[in-house]
Amino acid sequence: MNNFEFYSPTCFVFGKDTETSAGEYVKRFGGSKVLIHYGGGSAVRSGLLDRIKESLSKESIAFTELGGVKPNPRSGLVYEGIDLCKKENVDFILAVGGGSVIDSSKAIAAGAIYDGDFWDFYSGKRVEKALSVGTVLTIAAAGSEGSPDSVITKEEGMLKRGASGDAIRPKFSILNPALTQTLPAYQTAAGITDIMAHLYERYLTNTEEVEVTDRLIEGLLLTMIHEGPRVISDPDNYEARANIMWAGTMAHNNSCGVGRSQDWNSHNIEHELSALYDCAHGAGLAVTMPAVFSYTMSHNVMRFAQAAVRIWGCQMDFAHPEVTAKAGIEAFRNFLISIGMPKNFEELGAKEEDIPKLVDVLLHGNGREGTITGFVTLNEEDCTRIYKLMV
Ligand code: NZQ
Ligand code: ZN
Repeated sequence: MNNFEFYSPTCFVFGKDTETSAGEYVKRFGGSKVLIHYGGGSAVRSGLLDRIKESLSKESIAFTELGGVKPNPRSGLVYEGIDLCKKENVDFILAVGGGSVIDSSKAIAAGAIYDGDFWDFYSGKRVEKALSVGTVLTIAAAGSEGSPDSVITKEEGMLKRGASGDAIRPKFSILNPALTQTLPAYQTAAGITDIMAHLYERYLTNTEEVEVTDRLIEGLLLTMIHEGPRVISDPDNYEARANIMWAGTMAHNNSCGVGRSQDWNSHNIEHELSALYDCAHGAGLAVTMPAVFSYTMSHNVMRFAQAAVRIWGCQMDFAHPEVTAKAGIEAFRNFLISIGMPKNFEELGAKEEDIPKLVDVLLHGNGREGTITGFVTLNEEDCTRIYKLMV
């Protein structure tokens, strides 16, 4: 196991009706003028936004609002939010929505007290200072409610890139599983896929002797395999939604990623798909992961074979561990298809002729120098072959 520091100071408030305490938590974490940031309307339609406003008013906290965050959030609205925060002297940003709303809120929080262009943070500069952010989560997926990360797409060139820093970790995150019951099945499934991806990206490690985190990841993946189909067939199942929601947070606050190298090749390869085709990030991952795993399997067959046995219940073939490894990847792919995720470029809405463009932006956009590195290092030929496996 590698040396590590684990710092995860977000206050998680979990359970039914917890959003009615939003005002109390804003107050507790020092907010006096709030920007409520939300998405395309689901929070308005469900009445959630009204409950949040009522809760802030009850604590006599002033607020202004900015809606319209799109999935795969864009830089344009971030600039608008930064201007609004400066004009209105906002000191706290309350994200009401999913990963896209939370990431847009984090970008605004970083940009509002920075003299330069906020995009500097998405070009490699670490976020050291930001306005405080709190969240009311409405979809279990990205894990942004407990992460120090934010992913934004710059309209110019459709560059989708991430920023990081403890300053943008949410001060608190309110998690009411019942709020996720209004999700369309496809979004629920995309969220399940993203959560499983965050676990797999950590499982694929080059660090030896990481039994604790291996077992945590396996436990969370087994939970997703149990609860995923339950919630797809019974969307109002609160208990299944609750388990998925907490698994989503645990999958990405790095409690099961400490002390080990991690992969993230699938995420990097996927981000080009959701940037170009505006598909759901989880749906893009469903097509990407089996291709990346098949392509990189030979780097450490035993790791994939271990996943196959411990997670997917495959029989270990000691003479041919690659057969076991492949069976595990196939079982994962079939699981994703069974919950309604796309299996190839066509179902995702991607085009084979775009592959050179996807590879170019992936490997050269925003200062990258021709490779991406995770579990293995991938160059232009590797990435081209991986995208071709998805066709
Ligand atoms: O905009 P509204 O109307 O709210 O609709 C949203 C949106 O269309 C809808 N939705 C959310 N909650 C709902 C609901 N509809 C009905 N009822 C509800 N309760 O769902 C759609 C998707 O929302 P979005 O926020 O985009 O989903 P998600 O949480 O999957 O976030 C995806 C974004 O997060 C990034 C992804 O790249 C993508 O841009 N990621 C962020 C990470 C991080 N910050 O740590 C890590 C992840 O790996 C990921 O890259
Ligand atoms: Zn993800």
